Amino acid sequence: MFINNPFAEIATMVSPTAMKFYVVLMILFVIGGTVLDMLHKQSAKYFFANSKKAQANAKVKIGGGKKAGLAVKTVASEVLTSSEFCNKRRRLSHLMTMYGFIFFVVTSAILIFGYTNGESSPILVNLLWHLGALSLCVGGYWFWFAIRVDLVSDGAKWNQFNGRGDIFILGLLAMATFALLWSIFQSISTGAFSMLLFGLFILSATVLFGTVYWSKFAHMFFKPAAAFQKKVAMADGSREGLPGDFDLTDPQVQAKFPDIPEYMGTNPPNMGLGIKREPPTHY
Ligand code: HEM
Repeated sequence: MFINNPFAEIATMVSPTAMKFYVVLMILFVIGGTVLDMLHKQSAKYFFANSKKAQANAKVKIGGGKKAGLAVKTVASEVLTSSEFCNKRRRLSHLMTMYGFIFFVVTSAILIFGYTNGESSPILVNLLWHLGALSLCVGGYWFWFAIRVDLVSDGAKWNQFNGRGDIFILGLLAMATFALLWSIFQSISTGAFSMLLFGLFILSATVLFGTVYWSKFAHMFFKPAAAFQKKVAMADGSREGLPGDFDLTDPQVQAKFPDIPEYMGTNPPNMGLGIKREPPTHY
């Protein structure tokens, strides 16, 4: 268990060509859904307009080298370590879901394209397929039952389904859960029950990859671009139109805003970000 190649076992009943065709179809669904999503939300248009606006408001000119450095920082921080999440539990759950998904998808493609015609697949690849699905399940169920904002801050019940907003997480969970159950039951017996689990795995994968246009799937492509743009806006001083970070005890700042002592005293405390003062649980 966990070191078998489930696709090689089912290749006696489902043609390897059909499996390969299915993978290509899912890739096309993701590309098509993402492009349609971009056209519908006009996100690319907004992104470039916003970037132009930032350039016009820039206080410092940023060169290509500095931009490349910011891109590397974005990949190393926001993309690879999910650093946008301040909440540690959410960050860990996102890392488990994200890496689980990547390992599961990449190893599925390797196993289907390389090892469904009788060749024996490397045990490490088989193991990573199972561990990827398991990591996706642990991170995803943790998020669904204990972390997501609807539950923690809005008082929603775990079984409350929020329409389109939840298709992504539920699609991920269904796909990984049925994949694992199918592989486990198939290694015990290749009967009708394991075929049913295989059918449910394919059905949930089709829902996940076929609903990109409506779900949050495409965030994995948009979020890195947005995080990079945000870094550029901070570095060039345009700050997305937000005011600067002022030190209220600085005499120069007090001279610029002479009413500060009137409202906050001569030694104004730094009260930090209001949003971080207490968790939102007042439902
Ligand atoms: C490879 C795959 C990825 C997977 C499987 C994944 C999975 C998820 C899931 C399940 C959620 C919760 C969605 C929900 O509220 O239902 C989420 C949210 C989020 N992800 Fe990812 N993610 C991936 C890649 C990325 C990348 C590359 C970034 C950033 C660079 C990112 C940044 C975020 C952020 C900031 C949120 C919170 C957004 C929100 O709540 O609206 N994710 N992700």
